[in-house]
Formats: sequence, C-alpha cells, structure tokens
Amino acid sequence: MNIQHILSDKIKQAMIAAGASEPVEALVRQSGKPQFGDYQANGIMAAAKKLGKNPREFAQAVLEQLNLDDIATKLEIAGPGFINIFLKDEWLANCVAKANQSQTLGIDTDQKQTIVVDYSSPNVAKEMHVGHLRSTIIGDSVVRTLEFLGNQVIRANHVGDWGTQFGMLIAYLEKMQNGNATDMDLSDLEAFYREAKATYDNDADFAEKSRNYVVKLQSGDEYCLSMWRKLVDITMQQCQRTYDRLNVTLTTKDTMGESLYNPMLPDVVQTLKDKGLASEDDGAVVVFLDEFKNKDGDPMGVIVQKKDGGYLYTTTDIAAASYRCHTLKADRAMVFSDSRQAQHMQQAWLITRKGGFVPDDFILEHFTFGMMLGKDGKPFKTRSGGTVKLADLLDEAIERASVLIDEKNTELSDSEKQAVIDAVAIGAVKYSDLSKNRNTDYVFDWDNMLSFEGNTAPYMQYAYTRIRSIFTKAGLDLHALTGEIAIGNDKEHQLAIKLLQFEEVLLSVVKDGMPHLLCQYLFELAGIFSGFYESCPILSTEEPTKTSRLLLAALTAKTLKQGLTLLGIKTVEKM
Ligand code: ARG
Repeated sequence: MNIQHILSDKIKQAMIAAGASEPVEALVRQSGKPQFGDYQANGIMAAAKKLGKNPREFAQAVLEQLNLDDIATKLEIAGPGFINIFLKDEWLANCVAKANQSQTLGIDTDQKQTIVVDYSSPNVAKEMHVGHLRSTIIGDSVVRTLEFLGNQVIRANHVGDWGTQFGMLIAYLEKMQNGNATDMDLSDLEAFYREAKATYDNDADFAEKSRNYVVKLQSGDEYCLSMWRKLVDITMQQCQRTYDRLNVTLTTKDTMGESLYNPMLPDVVQTLKDKGLASEDDGAVVVFLDEFKNKDGDPMGVIVQKKDGGYLYTTTDIAAASYRCHTLKADRAMVFSDSRQAQHMQQAWLITRKGGFVPDDFILEHFTFGMMLGKDGKPFKTRSGGTVKLADLLDEAIERASVLIDEKNTELSDSEKQAVIDAVAIGAVKYSDLSKNRNTDYVFDWDNMLSFEGNTAPYMQYAYTRIRSIFTKAGLDLHALTGEIAIGNDKEHQLAIKLLQFEEVLLSVVKDGMPHLLCQYLFELAGIFSGFYESCPILSTEEPTKTSRLLLAALTAKTLKQGLTLLGIKTVEKM
C-alpha cells in the first residue's frame, strides 16, 4: 500500500491524457504543511514547460482528466502550478482496515532482486572495535528491510582473513602452542596481535620464520592452512558472540572473507593486462586511472599486483564484484564501510567497469559513514586513549540500563526485568547510531541514548508498551480485534496517513541505505499517536468509535514493533 505510487500513477496518466508525452513524472510528495493537503504533485511545471504551455492552465487541463473521486475530497491548484491533494477519510479508513488485516501490514512485499550486502567485515586476529559497529548495525537493518520487502539477500561478511601478516600470526600461534598455551589464551585478540608484532620486530629468527610461513601459506601448505583456519575460527567465534548479543542476523555461514577470492586474482590481473589497462611498473602491475590524479597531477596508479607477486585489497574487491555478479547472480551489491574507504571502493569499481568484469546494469554501491565521536568531539576512545572494544561497550550498556530499570521500580518479574534491560541496553546503543544520518560523525553519549525522552530506543520501546497496555487494560487481543474504522477528526486523519506511509519509508531505507529515515518515521508516528491519544479518548468512548480507535491503536503498535524489528531492536510487552 503506497499512497505516493497510487497518486503518481493516476496523475501521470492524466498528464498524458492532457497532452504530455513520456518521459513525464508527476513527482508526488508528502506535503509539508496541512494547508497544502496531504500530498502534492510537483511535476506539472516541468511538463508544461516542455509543452510550451502555461503551467496553471496545464494543471487545470490535468485536473479535467483526473478522477480521484474515491481517494480525495479536494484537489487544488496552488502557486505556479502545484496540485494539492486532500485525501478522503473513508478511503483512508478502508486502507487502514486492510493494512490491519494483512500479515505484512499492507506493505507490498514483491521486490524480487538478489542483493549482496557486504557488511560488518572485521579482520582476523583483531578484536572487533567500535569502527565495525556502524557497518554491522546499519548493514543489518538494511538487510532486514530488504528481506521484508521480498528480496533475496546474500549476506557477505567480507572478513579480512588474508595478507602478509598471517605468516607472523601463524608463527606466533605456534610459539604459544609450543608453550602449552590453550586456545583460550587467544581470547584477547588485540593483545595477541600486538605481541605477535612485537616479537616480529625484535626477534630476527621469528621474523624469518614468519616470512617463510607466508610463502608456504600462499602455496597451500597444509600445516600453515590449518593454523590459519584456527585463527579465522577463533576470531569468528568471538565475532559471533558479539553478533548474538547485538541481535544482528549474521551467522558464520555468511563469512565470505577476502581469501575466498584468492583463486580468481591471477585471472583478474591477466584480464587487465590483456585489455591494455594494466602495465608493469617497477616490477609491480599497475592500472593508471585518469579519473584520479596523484599529487603531481598525473593519472593515479593503482597497484593490482606487487613486485613479489602478492595481490592487494583492490584486486580482491575487483574479484569480489565479479563473483557477486556472475557466481552469486546478484542484481545489486551494497558495501557498508567507513568513509575512509571511499576512494578505495571508487577505484576498485572503476577498474571493475573498465575491465568489463560486470555488465553495465549491475549495481555497485558503497554506503559510507562517519565516525563515532566521544563527548569531547574527538574519535571515540577509552579513557586511556585505546580503541573501545565492542564487548566492553555492551557490558557497560547493560550495567547502565540495569541501574535505570531498577530506578523505575516496576512490577516486573526477574526474568521480565532481564529482558527489559537487554532490550533497552542493546537497543539504546543501536538506535543512537541508526537514528543519525550515517554520513555524519556522531557523538556517543550514554545519557542521551538511555533517555526516555526524545528520539531514543527507550522512548520508542516505551511508546510501544503504552499502546499494549491499553489492550491489556481492556482485556483485548491486539491481533484478533476486528470491526469498522471511521475517521472522524484531524488527529485520526493524520494518524491514518502516517500509518499508511510505512511502505514509502521502507523503500527509501533500502534505496539509500539509510535506516535513520525509519527511526525518524517511527519517532514521528509515536508523536502523532500521543497527540491522537490525548485528544481522542479510547476506552471511555462509546461504540463504534471505541473499536475504530482501538483499531488505529492496534496498527500503530504493530507498525512500531515491525519498524523496530527491521532496525534490529527488540520490543517488550511491558516495562
Ligand atoms: N575489512 C575491512 C575493514 O575492516 C572492511 C571491508 C569492507 N568491504 C569490502 N568489500 N572492501 O576495514
């Protein structure tokens, strides 16, 4: 159910009937102010200009061709040639009733694309840090929304599991095992990596062995491969614990690390050479790109194979693009990683296109995001200046939420209380990130994110439980309720329209990879519901108004819950 699409189609047809020819767009948008109606069509002026007609006269001609009697009470020409559309209460009531009865809340779930979503993508033998948090949760909510809309999503956790550092890591793992260390001693991956590096820098024999192991690993030596696999497994087990705590849908099955593409890399380089795109430069194989200039103003060289024969991050991303298109048969590949990788992705994909590794209509998109900052406006760090480990961050969230929920002194059982603490703690961390436009840096602030006021997880979760409690009080099942809906005043009208705009929001979330639009929508929906609830009594009202209002409340609760679920945020029935 998509009001924007319905109106766009009808108005476009009327524009054509009034003389416009394709391509023509009605450009229907939600109106900013009630006096401009519920929706407005902005495409008249451009179409009139193309026809050499006066826009207001053309608007009049369009209205003569337009029959929206079932949908709208009033259509009005405004300003230089906008059409304002005022929707009919009976039609809205009917749409809300249908949405209420539908499993998918009236959302069209017939998108049919196959989409690879590359997200989270931590690195082996390195602890996941806050930098991976954004990719993980933004990517996951886009994945959930894409799936809800009917698409087939392939999650690709592009783990950094290959590279020259593995010689050193294998040598160090061996050293630890010889010293009878158990795998558990690897739990502190950050320390493991640091110590491996220190040993490499200070111990010449160890460094020699490390270099030896890289060569062996790359030539498929069984021993080195098994040590490497151990490192990958331990890392991914730790990541999995974090994913589970975060209520993120990734599993170990979704790991498609850089190593997956190794067998394809020689062909990538060969193809680039054959096509005359790559050339030898000082022993390395380089692609020069006119589109990027180096500091001397010359075309920038991007290395695809090093002097020693090794391949690079870029080579792997070219192979990954091709694999996602041809082997996975995807229509679209979306990568979520921080904005410092923007140039890398642009270059990798420019080479991908120039080399003809994917057809022109294959969509490659990089969704970047800014940094998470501390309250001092500087990159988020621990008090001693180290990177904040995600696991520690989540522990702190649970601690803080426990204090908060204890203070509220509700009549919850212990297990109910634990569920609330978990939902609020994890929800707060995720929502504070998801609710910000991903393009900007944002300040990580415990007090803000755990507040019950404003655009926060606790506020949204509480708004949901408040509606639930109306039903509990009335002894009614929110899902089983049936009856007639009648829209009788502005507040009901506004609420109905907002509810019916859910699909429009979901479409923009998946188009632009921007979950904050969904947060903003849910926040506004909760606000509109509050306004409705204040001026439209529900349980104390006579029938049939009572049931009608209960049905509006039911769809609001279901929409809030579904929306939060798509953000990967849990709801509880009471708190
Ligand atoms: N592993 C990388 C990092 O930690 C992110 C990978 C992003 N995806 C990609 N296809 N390059 O920064």
